[in-house]
Amino acid sequence: MQINDVISIEREGPLALIVIDNPPVNAAGHAVREGLWKAVEAVEADDGVEAVAIYGKGRAFIAGADIREFGKPRMEPILTDVCNRIEDCTKPVVAVLHGSCFGGGLEVAIGCHARVAIPGVKVGFPEVTLGVIPGAGGTQRGPRLMGIGAALSIITTGERIGHEDALSCGLVDRVEEGAPREVALRMAEEARVGALPCRKTGKIEVTPDAEAIEATKAKLAAKAAHLFAPHRAVEAVEACTGPLEAGLALEREKFQACIESPQRAGLIHAFFAERAVEKIPEAGAEPREVSVVGVIGGGTMGSGIATACLNAGLTVRMNERDEEALGRGRDTVGKNLAGAVKRGKMSEAKRDAALERFKPSTALEDFADCDVVIEAVFEDMGVKRDVFGRLDGICKPGAVLASNTSYLDVNEIAACTSRPEDVIGLHFFSPAHIMRLLEVVVAEKTAPEVVATGFALAKKLRKVGVRAGVCDGFIGNRILSHYKKVADYLVLDGAAPHEVDTAIEDFGFAMGPFAVSDLAGLDIGWANRKRLAPTRPAEERYVAVADRICEAGNFGRKTGRGFYVYGEGQPEPAPEVAEIVAEEREKAGVTAREFSKEAIQARFITAMIAEATRVLEDGIALRPIDIDAVFLFGYGFPRHRGGPMHTADVIGASELVARIERYAEEDPYYWQVPDLLRKMAAESTTFAEMN
Ligand code: COA
Ligand code: NAD
Repeated sequence: MQINDVISIEREGPLALIVIDNPPVNAAGHAVREGLWKAVEAVEADDGVEAVAIYGKGRAFIAGADIREFGKPRMEPILTDVCNRIEDCTKPVVAVLHGSCFGGGLEVAIGCHARVAIPGVKVGFPEVTLGVIPGAGGTQRGPRLMGIGAALSIITTGERIGHEDALSCGLVDRVEEGAPREVALRMAEEARVGALPCRKTGKIEVTPDAEAIEATKAKLAAKAAHLFAPHRAVEAVEACTGPLEAGLALEREKFQACIESPQRAGLIHAFFAERAVEKIPEAGAEPREVSVVGVIGGGTMGSGIATACLNAGLTVRMNERDEEALGRGRDTVGKNLAGAVKRGKMSEAKRDAALERFKPSTALEDFADCDVVIEAVFEDMGVKRDVFGRLDGICKPGAVLASNTSYLDVNEIAACTSRPEDVIGLHFFSPAHIMRLLEVVVAEKTAPEVVATGFALAKKLRKVGVRAGVCDGFIGNRILSHYKKVADYLVLDGAAPHEVDTAIEDFGFAMGPFAVSDLAGLDIGWANRKRLAPTRPAEERYVAVADRICEAGNFGRKTGRGFYVYGEGQPEPAPEVAEIVAEEREKAGVTAREFSKEAIQARFITAMIAEATRVLEDGIALRPIDIDAVFLFGYGFPRHRGGPMHTADVIGASELVARIERYAEEDPYYWQVPDLLRKMAAESTTFAEMN
């Protein structure tokens, strides 16, 4: 019997199966909620039904509430009422969980009278990662099943657990092998005859656990003080020792406060950004098969890229200039894999299998069978030209030839080969086996199927591929080069580097810009500034502080000294930097002034948004959301703020224009209002409308 488009009831004698079929992931949107409600009413009214099981078609039981409905007017029945209705059903109702069972899906499950997991299922409450809390009984029924401590842990972290952990913490009652429908029939029958114990979760007594609550509060105060939702989750869980109805009402109130918070909007934007970037003009092209990847260069990036490819099950060749450098590359890959084993991310057997697939060699001729070659040699056009010229003579037809260059012109690199249609930029971020961003840089002649291959490879490596056009620095580094300058100007004009870092960290970045430079190596930026020096416009203010730190042989973390001194404890600001800054101010005739934390943040973010807008105007990024993804997954932009373009919409185009005009009174060369921003201010439009 079809209840509506997404819910139906299948009858087998005295058993009724309620089937959820709402592709792609059975999200509990309005139709699912309404259908479930009506289905429960129907099975209750049907005297022939003695037991009920709910299962999902496709790849999930229910992947959660429909995130697209968050922030929109609510439509009855709300999920809390649906879960209560299921719990109140006078006939036993079993939930059969497979694939994904998250958030609202898990709340439906714990509203049922028993839960059976099919191996492979993942369950959890990822709500806090979306800026909300479980809002349909998760904070009340969850602790009734798992105890307060386990519930707090799972709810405040968003951790996703497998069937074994779900069984041991009490979230599910049984693990059964089989297809969802078959397990559902079997379990409904067992519930009918009393072989599967059934109970109403809401009636279970919870043991108070003040210690777990205090410990969680302390942990959140230390690690997540700036986040809104996890704290509200604890407050809701605290109410679970009282009557269910009062707890549900409080949970609802806290959930609503989360829905209205700007963090919720930012986090959900980030969720969709990760998926939106896959929508590219080349999406229809057939990607080429990739099983053997060649990496040229075994330095910082080459060994990280090789590790990422090995982790994804690919065969990896690595080439270096000589045996010694190759040995270093091999060792770094070995250490990376050992680190994964140590952190419990990889089994020893998997590590051994990965090492079997790793084939370092100094003979580039060995790359003849590679499907994709990724060049990660020195950032020098001469070296890259030589490498691509040689690859052209060695690689098989159809091999994708990629460069990991950070700034150089991929068109020029492509022109060194007789097959520019096979050449692309694959710009990884350091450490390449950890950072999720991969800029897929599309040159003038790159073939669509080569772009599609870049995106398919990103997916295989579990990275977020973002399409970028060719320019100095592509999307991310071009914007970075611009806002790094404002950080330097802030220092020249009066702020200390560590004050800038602290302000930016307070905004939510994992690290401030000077700490990042120290980590990346100050020599990298130095080399780049020297490269650009001949073309630097005379009107541009130039801050030589970092150059002078480098001239003294200090390159940041790798030499133990840069903007900070790195020793045993916390890094300390390097005292000589203050002297250099004072001298540079004097040379420039600048009288130092004070900048508040807010003033630093405003200039930094405005500079970032201004250049990001120009990147968009130039067509280097497809949409504003692509820029957000670049910063969220490659530059440590605070996820709860959704990315620079989402932040721009929060600030508003008119305010941004006013700020830039104000700053331009001091430095009209650097601060220029992008035409697009002016137009947006005049028309009161947003970046979100361009996605
Ligand atoms: N609400 C609305 N849409 C959702 C959704 C949800 N809860 N979960 C996934 N989707 C959409 C995605 O946006 C994507 O849409 P698109 O194809 O238009 O881009 C589609 O479903 C497939 O999702 P995707 O993430 O690409 O598939 P996957 O197989 O890699 O992963 C999940 C599936 C369920 C693991 C993953 O989507 C996920 O983690 N979803 C969020 C779950 C969640 O947080 N639920 C709690 C909400 S309270
Ligand atoms: P690196 O100096 O650590 O490594 C470069 C390696 O290339 C060295 O081991 C060197 O021996 C090897 N090499 C040089 N010429 C070679 C040749 N002709 N054949 C084979 N091997 C050769 O540099 P890195 O930081 O790994 O950077 C490599 C590339 O990646 C550069 O283009 C850089 O701009 C880019 N990149 C770097 C980062 C980063 O954060 N370090 C991030 C993204 C992209």
